[in-house]
Amino acid sequence: MAQQEIKIGIENVYKIFGPDPGSVLDRVKGGASKQDLLEDTGHTIGIRDVSLDIGVGQIFVVMGLSGSGKSTLIRHINRLIEPTDGRILVDGEDVLRLDAEALRHLRRYKMSMVFQRFALLPHKTVIDNVMSGLQIRDEAGGGIAKRLGLSSGKASAEARERAQAQVDLVGLQGFENQYPSQLSGGMQQRVGLARALATDAEVLLMDEAFSALDPLIRNDMQDQLIQIQNELSKTIVFITHDLDEALRIGDHIAILKDGELRQVGPPEEILMAPADDYVSRFVKDVNRGRVITVGSIANDYPTVVLGAAGFSDALAKLEASERNTVYVCDGDGRPVGAVTTKMAQEGRDLSGPIADDAKLDPVQTVDSAAVIEDMLPLSMKTEVPVAVLDGDGALAGGVPRRTVLSALVRREE
Ligand SMILES: Nc1ncnc2c1ncn2[C@@H]1O[C@H](COP(=O)(O)OP(=O)(O)OP(=O)(O)O)[C@@H](O)[C@H]1O
Ligand SMILES: [Mg+2]
Repeated sequence: MAQQEIKIGIENVYKIFGPDPGSVLDRVKGGASKQDLLEDTGHTIGIRDVSLDIGVGQIFVVMGLSGSGKSTLIRHINRLIEPTDGRILVDGEDVLRLDAEALRHLRRYKMSMVFQRFALLPHKTVIDNVMSGLQIRDEAGGGIAKRLGLSSGKASAEARERAQAQVDLVGLQGFENQYPSQLSGGMQQRVGLARALATDAEVLLMDEAFSALDPLIRNDMQDQLIQIQNELSKTIVFITHDLDEALRIGDHIAILKDGELRQVGPPEEILMAPADDYVSRFVKDVNRGRVITVGSIANDYPTVVLGAAGFSDALAKLEASERNTVYVCDGDGRPVGAVTTKMAQEGRDLSGPIADDAKLDPVQTVDSAAVIEDMLPLSMKTEVPVAVLDGDGALAGGVPRRTVLSALVRREE
């Protein structure tokens, strides 16, 4: 696998709040508990020794209960908060070393932040608020017209169109010309969201950005975010305390407790191999069928090529393997049928070349990106392991029914 390019690096970051954080740092490094430190010294541990690499184009989700340090962590990335100890790198550059000008540039062009509560411009309408993200860039960036290679009239039409598309997306069409004070809290949050999405920042920092949305809109926004990441390769750091949301959108999930990183990894890893009891308890009620992808539970299976192999080759491969199935694939690697141990046991005529699929058992197929809930009906249809296909429709592995079932059942501690 190619080395993932790192967008944001967080290195051994500590953040302690209180009158003299430096004076208690050694004690925190020595392992003092959050509660003891607060009682003895009046200092609060926000973040304790957190290190993370966030890759270009990832949706990186930070999860944890209220007070676990999520907002504190994300605010370090654009230096709204400075660490008590440790480093934060963006594109390899230490943000603590940026001068005022460079910091302004970082906040304006590289990152767009959606806060838990964000300030809209009260004297501007919905559409103007959404466009304001684009216009701020306009002043400092030589004009959106120049950047888009358009005349200024065309550019403002373009900006308006882009803003309108985001307003539609968050379900506020019809409210373009209203002012923030005329909207509900959730609607205001959606305006802020539309504003962040309309900009072309490389990094989106989203702190509970979807928490005020109704379930249907929330689902649409999650899909949209995944699509934005796929198309534009933005790097998205997304905070939520909703585990279903985290599992749905995250490529990587970091779990914080009391300012400490308990586990970081892809959703399947968090579910199937929780690092400790805390994480186990956290994930125990998740609907695993909707999260675990088929690709992550697929096994390797032996194959033979249609037209080039005989049944004796298939049987020899079965003999040599622990599996009970050999897939027969065409010249492009697509499965056309299977030869199974059971066929042999049933005394079926397995002689001669495999020239077509006439004597083969049929094979159900599923895309490796599908979740296991989607493959359950297929799995129930046949005793032949369901063939897993890669993006080109070629065989990537197989999943027997018992593997599906055991992935669905959560591990009991
Ligand atoms: N400015 C501050 N001064 C003192 N303590 C703070 C400050 N900001 C955060 N903290 C403390 O740091 C810890 C982490 O707070 P943070 O806001 O990062 O939590 P969170 O995970 O975002 O919680 P929530 O889900 O409720 O938003 C808490 O114990 C909080 O009391
Ligand atoms: Mg918070």
